[in-house]
Amino acid sequence: MIVCKSAAELEKMRAAGQIGARVLAQVAAHAAPGVSLLELEALAEKEIAAGKGEPAFKGYRGYPCVLCTSVNEEIVHGIPSERKLREGDILSIDVGIKLEGFYVDTATTVLLEPVAPEVKTLVRVTREALDIAVKQARAGNYLNDIGKAVQQHVEGAGFNVVREFVGHGIGTQLHEEPQVPNYATPGRGPKLRPGMVLALEPMVTKGSPAVKMRPDRWTAVVADGGHAAHFEHCVAVTQNGPWVLTEA
Ligand code: MF3
Ligand code: CO
Ligand code: CO
Repeated sequence: MIVCKSAAELEKMRAAGQIGARVLAQVAAHAAPGVSLLELEALAEKEIAAGKGEPAFKGYRGYPCVLCTSVNEEIVHGIPSERKLREGDILSIDVGIKLEGFYVDTATTVLLEPVAPEVKTLVRVTREALDIAVKQARAGNYLNDIGKAVQQHVEGAGFNVVREFVGHGIGTQLHEEPQVPNYATPGRGPKLRPGMVLALEPMVTKGSPAVKMRPDRWTAVVADGGHAAHFEHCVAVTQNGPWVLTEA
């Protein structure tokens, strides 16, 4: 069952989304060569508390941190560590916020310049894929329109979408129905209706999208070691079109 949110509930999620946007902006601004992932984790923890939100990931199925930090061939769910960022790295920062009973979830990928041109293109195409997904989140469309448009854009640019992880509904739970694949699936899926909120999150690889798990059992990496990028917004379907709850 897909739970639709009331206008008042969407306002709460928007407030949470603004905290999420601030956390990502702060962490992105501090990501630089020589800075460790745990320093970014500490900054995020401070920023969430300052916004009076609660971290949504820490403790979720035993996950230990407020951020997921995924570098280069890491796709998602990288655990912050003493690892220091280096020139040429790309870093996906993913954060979840809970506020007044409602969750949001948002991610961005930042470049530690100078970054190889084809890796920069990968990051740009992934950001564009999220923008395209957002535009599809309108009443009357079908869920499958999102994955179809994302896959077409990504593969048209010569990259690939990860299949093992998908976007999701979100609200009083971090992960709600429906699942939102970043690729076309058979059938149209449910019709999108006002009040639905979707966490849209394309994960894109430069080469093969095959995934393997690190021994920590959280970090998902590209099996062939190629780069991956990841962007995520929570988007409400409204009568006036998509409302991006997690933008600044
Ligand atoms: N942020 C992830 C998502 O986009 C979920 C992270 S759960 C955690 O769905 F436990 F790994 F933090
Ligand atoms: Co996320
Ligand atoms: Co998510």
